[in-house]
Amino acid sequence: MPRITHMTAREVFDSRGRPTVEVVVTCAGGRPCRAITPAGASTGAAEAAELRDGGNRLGGWGVRRAVENVRTEIANAFVGCDAADQALIDQRLIDLDGTPNKSRLGANAILAVSLASAYAAASTFGRSPIEHFQRLWKKIPSTLSSEAPAAPASATSIGAGPSLPLPMVNMISGGKHAGGQLDFQDFLLMPVGATSFSQGLEWIITVYQTLGRVLNASGYEGTLVGDEGGYGPRLQSNQEALDLIIEAIQRAGYRPGDDLAFAIDVASTHFYRDGFYHLAADGGRRLSSQEMIASLVDWVDHYPILSIEDGLAEEDWEGWQALTSTLAERVQLIGDDLFATNVNRLQRGIDLGAGNSVLIKLNQIGTLTETLQTMRLAVDHGYAPVISARSGETEDVTIADLAVATGAGQIKIGSVARSERLVKYNQLLRWEEELNAPYVGSAALYEAQG
Ligand code: PGA
Ligand code: ZN
Repeated sequence: MPRITHMTAREVFDSRGRPTVEVVVTCAGGRPCRAITPAGASTGAAEAAELRDGGNRLGGWGVRRAVENVRTEIANAFVGCDAADQALIDQRLIDLDGTPNKSRLGANAILAVSLASAYAAASTFGRSPIEHFQRLWKKIPSTLSSEAPAAPASATSIGAGPSLPLPMVNMISGGKHAGGQLDFQDFLLMPVGATSFSQGLEWIITVYQTLGRVLNASGYEGTLVGDEGGYGPRLQSNQEALDLIIEAIQRAGYRPGDDLAFAIDVASTHFYRDGFYHLAADGGRRLSSQEMIASLVDWVDHYPILSIEDGLAEEDWEGWQALTSTLAERVQLIGDDLFATNVNRLQRGIDLGAGNSVLIKLNQIGTLTETLQTMRLAVDHGYAPVISARSGETEDVTIADLAVATGAGQIKIGSVARSERLVKYNQLLRWEEELNAPYVGSAALYEAQG
């Protein structure tokens, strides 16, 4: 049994230069293994709570208290524990914290402990992280009643793992991730026509570089990038962003829609106030839920958009039901702020018919086991899981390992610039070569049944 012999933590810095928590766990017979917690900017209200120091130091973003919690209270409780029993580790973290949103010890402290323990257990067993995560994933019980017929599984079935995911890659950033006028937070591309992960990534990189030249030629900034590496030009409208990306796809020699299709992250919670969606672009408009849905339908009618994330706000459940009955046959509707990787919120969505896919962000919920439980619930109910980075990232590659091991099918890492993004793509390239695992490609997108 991989018994935890040592646990420590330190304050390190993320891709925005903000402090975050790194935890190092060592088991008897294994090597020290570390994990670092990421951080969002467009955070949802239902997310687990980060513990920040406040005060004057580093603008109040310091995490010394969270680090101290790991070094003292958490380490004292966990040294001697079996790191292989991830479910027990995570339950003990939840119990020790004692709050519903992990605010006492800090979800930023708790997640790094949870993940570093998993890597430490894998190291002691001499297993690759893929093998270890796969075992943990398989141990998560089904959420379906025993009478429910099992879905037919193939190597690329979602959740059958290991497989290489379809990447959803940021080209232009708006919203809270850049300084421009765009309401939509991310304009992304998915290489739906590629036959391997590496081919898809190569197409994306070619289009990304072409887009930089197209932006420059159109008189826009084509070098400066936003938090996730997407370009941050001061465009006048969301439509202009989509048109420029289409131009880049064509100039690079690919077919919009067939080779590369759009995904958008509207992140609409951040312009929803008093029951209305307040759009800044396109001259400034105030839309009701129904009008917002009509506008999304219009986008889908005119552009090859196959996925829309947070098309409506996190508390607009009724709007989400209407959006889903209107568009679910045609596009993947991902809940990010809506579900917050939370099993109870996802269950509510399933019951209400809200959304058909779920963004999976480990630090929204705060432990590995709870993340896997949310993924299990999604897969059992035909919701497509999309494993996602945060806008504040580091060299930690856990999401790449997790996406491959579980066969989640889709991954959203940001753009193809800035090393906190590229470390994950590069890790996926390594797994592709080493495991010879299948590429899920466009089959990973949510598909309406019947
Ligand atoms: P965040 O953005 O990490 O700033 O929340 C990512 C997203 O909304 O998908
Ligand atoms: Zn989002």
